[in-house]
Amino acid sequence: MRKVPQRLEKEDLEFLDTTENQSERGQFITPPEVADRLAQDLSELSLNPIKEVHDLGCGPGALSSAVRRMDSTIRVTGYDIHEEAVAKFNSRFPDHGRAYHRDILLDPKIPNMTAAISNPPYLLSRRIGDSRTAEILETDYFKSVSGKLNTFSLFMEIALRELADGGVAAFIIPIAITNLDDHKGIRSLLVEECEEIRITWKTDSNPFKDQGVAVETCIVSFRKGRGEKSLEIREWDGSEITRRREIKQTEFDIFPTIDAVDLPEQQGTEISSMCDIVASGFNWSPDWLEIAGSAPPEEYQQGMLPVVAGRNLSKDGNLTNDISINYQYLRENGGIVRACDFDNHSTNRPRLIIGDIGTSAIKVAYTESPCLPMNSVKVIFHKGDDSKALMELRDYLMTEDALIRLKKITPNLHLTKSNLGSLRVPVWGDAE
Ligand SMILES: C[S@@+](CC[C@H](N)C(=O)[O-])C[C@H]1O[C@@H](n2cnc3c(N)ncnc32)[C@H](O)[C@@H]1O
Repeated sequence: MRKVPQRLEKEDLEFLDTTENQSERGQFITPPEVADRLAQDLSELSLNPIKEVHDLGCGPGALSSAVRRMDSTIRVTGYDIHEEAVAKFNSRFPDHGRAYHRDILLDPKIPNMTAAISNPPYLLSRRIGDSRTAEILETDYFKSVSGKLNTFSLFMEIALRELADGGVAAFIIPIAITNLDDHKGIRSLLVEECEEIRITWKTDSNPFKDQGVAVETCIVSFRKGRGEKSLEIREWDGSEITRRREIKQTEFDIFPTIDAVDLPEQQGTEISSMCDIVASGFNWSPDWLEIAGSAPPEEYQQGMLPVVAGRNLSKDGNLTNDISINYQYLRENGGIVRACDFDNHSTNRPRLIIGDIGTSAIKVAYTESPCLPMNSVKVIFHKGDDSKALMELRDYLMTEDALIRLKKITPNLHLTKSNLGSLRVPVWGDAE
């Protein structure tokens, strides 16, 4: 697999050198290889030759530049809230482009649009603020979101509403849009309005990391229309499409990964019907004392409990016993920074301790000793305290099948009580 260097064009670097307060506007620049992929999607999806592309939140013009690299006859029209970005765009494409200084969330109408490209701002409700939220909702334009706004869904809704029939769009956008409940509205609108949707998962590293943007992104591109519906899920390694699957638009509640599409449906009983999953851990305080070696069980009963974090779970499914802290001491000294169900964890009941999932394994250990889980750690009790069943569940949770179902389907999500609980274990003890 070719490693693609993340580089920016001269005009974009010049712009970044002179601009300030970018994070307030959700402003960062799309590297050329990603921009080229978006432009390519437009041309592949469009049934007619493209004459003009509208660049929503155009910045200094990295996406428009890719469009013109692909086809120098295409006109580019940009919109941005930032005057300096608009000026840069206009100096970059003097003969074949024009950018407008416009807040498209308050003024979203774009007549006769047949193609749109966008890396929208990724601002969530807290950053948008109450008064701006009220201002946007007052326009009564947006229907896919209510209450808590995020700017990327709103930009996508503008494209979906403003495109003419047969019009195409390509977005680079946070992967949350594919699977979080908060974005159900925009997914429904996509499915309703589009005949063809493509979700492209990127398997190379985050292209915006060197601009300080930690959000993982994917590419969502589509053709609006009432024709036969299709949804293609693809993987792209930064240079080529490496895998693709065609699915029905309504087959999944979320837009899945290819791993999710390829998984056979699970049979059997949900974990939550046999087990109780407890998630009430607590946060670590940096000034807590650590006491080496595990305390003896009698002392556990008196409040001396070792604290278990993901790192204390061994690969073979046991707890390492090299870290313990004096819980009672900490409690008496105000060291507990978050409530924890002490009775639940100072028990000898058999249970599984599950550390948050890494990219290559789920860490899970069996224990009968009292211990306190850190906040990200989950604990599973069997309703009938059946140790054998718990051991078998532990073995299943350590398989690739469980890892894919819990992590690779929704790579942006942490392990939660509900996704753990909805996992089905086909035949206890019979997992690969
Ligand atoms: C992630 S940047 C993308 C810039 C450029 N398109 C690129 O891909 O390199 C998002 C852009 O949207 C602009 N923006 C933010 N809010 C906006 C709004 N309400 N209306 C128009 N543009 C907006 C920002 O100023 C910023 O330039």
